[in-house]
Amino acid sequence: MDLIYRAYPKEKFVAFYELLRPMLLIKDPQLIGEMFVENFHCFQDRVSGKIPKNRINQHLASLSGIKWRQVRTKLVPIFSPVKLKMMCNSVHKCSQILNLRISEHVRINKLIDTKDMMSRFALDVIGSCVFGLEFNAMNDSDSEFRKIGVTMLGNTSENSVRRLIRLLDPTGLLKKLFNFQDMSPKVDTFFFDLLKTTKELRENESTTRNDFIQLMLNIRNKELADDVENVIFDDNIIASNMYVFFFAGFETISVTLSFCLYELALNPEIQERVRNEIKQLRDSLNSIFDYDALNQLTYMDMVLSETLRKYPPVVQMTRTCTETYQIPDSDIVLHPHALINAPIFSIHNDERYYENPKKFDPERFTKENIARRIPNTYMPFGLGPRMCIGLRFAKMEMKCCLVELLYQYKFLPCDKTDIPFKVTSKAVMYTTDKPIWLAVEEV
Ligand code: HEM
Repeated sequence: MDLIYRAYPKEKFVAFYELLRPMLLIKDPQLIGEMFVENFHCFQDRVSGKIPKNRINQHLASLSGIKWRQVRTKLVPIFSPVKLKMMCNSVHKCSQILNLRISEHVRINKLIDTKDMMSRFALDVIGSCVFGLEFNAMNDSDSEFRKIGVTMLGNTSENSVRRLIRLLDPTGLLKKLFNFQDMSPKVDTFFFDLLKTTKELRENESTTRNDFIQLMLNIRNKELADDVENVIFDDNIIASNMYVFFFAGFETISVTLSFCLYELALNPEIQERVRNEIKQLRDSLNSIFDYDALNQLTYMDMVLSETLRKYPPVVQMTRTCTETYQIPDSDIVLHPHALINAPIFSIHNDERYYENPKKFDPERFTKENIARRIPNTYMPFGLGPRMCIGLRFAKMEMKCCLVELLYQYKFLPCDKTDIPFKVTSKAVMYTTDKPIWLAVEEV
């Protein structure tokens, strides 16, 4: 994709085939705004409309049309600052467990496999905030949840075949003919069983919980109490969204944190500045870093924004045309079912928008520089009404983790650190094919 983007520097859009699937690559930021934001009604769906509607596919990322809007409207409040404030404490506990694990490495002078460590942390947060469970991924490599994470996202041959079939089968015909499951049946069973057990366990509970599964059950209970004609939040919708929160919040978080620590190790002066900001704020606080305190860490926010600029885990944004649309200043008309794609990674790394894009430079995210930026050239969380619903949660989680780690530890490159590292083409996300090794010492 990046090769096509670079091969046609002057074009605003380029048509190409993703194996057998025709697609229009929208390169021009202004046009991206017009198609993904202003004319959202013409491009409401993702490129998943042809996926067979199996039980676990009824989630926000794959729903289309009115159903998507209904589910999104009901889910937005569960990601509100009020709800996130309540979850912050659970994330803080997971960060403390991570801290303990790192302290064991420091004690025996052991290098850290950053990706592995961060994925365990991300998994523990999902366990606690999505399911209200202790996954114990930090200390248990054989946990069921870790296994399901690998089944869903790992660089396994099974997953490669599934991805290939998805690309080779643009009409969805093969899937229908051979009853091809877009994901392993193990994943489907796992989430439905988990929902069933959780419901049973909670029936007799008197305490109120604030995890996503409970918040979704509350939505359903309200629908039942209001006696609505069609209950939207049935078991399929709830289990599917448990799955998507797991899927969307696992690797995105772990790779972003890994790349962030990698860049901080390579740029010690930036690392020191983040640490100083944490220390200054901590000295002025009487309690632990709560949600509001995390929001005061402006330099850390700049560092995370620059990490997501240089390494956006989701490299492209796709939509299906849902209403006929004429591309402005051209005679090209797109008809329903046409596919479009915005190249997030390529735009973030284009020297026309970011001078010296390979340089890790958080100063790009000062208030003044943000105001100067060409619109729609920064979109790690997507754009428009379909952008990432987990943005605030993701930022809270990553800041919570960095506060805990950088206050106490210094991260450094070591002999085993690949500089630069190689990116893998096998994974779903933008990531490295090998571990990111770093040395750690107590501050
Ligand atoms: C660093 C972390 C993350 C990044 C970079 C990220 C990025 C993205 C991107 C690029 C999209 C597509 C947006 C579009 O098409 O316009 C997306 C969608 C989505 N994300 Fe995230 N995400 C992150 C974390 C999370 C977390 C933690 C959750 C949930 C707990 C989450 C849930 C979702 C969902 C449900 C969608 C589909 C939204 C819809 O179609 O309405 N994401 N994300």
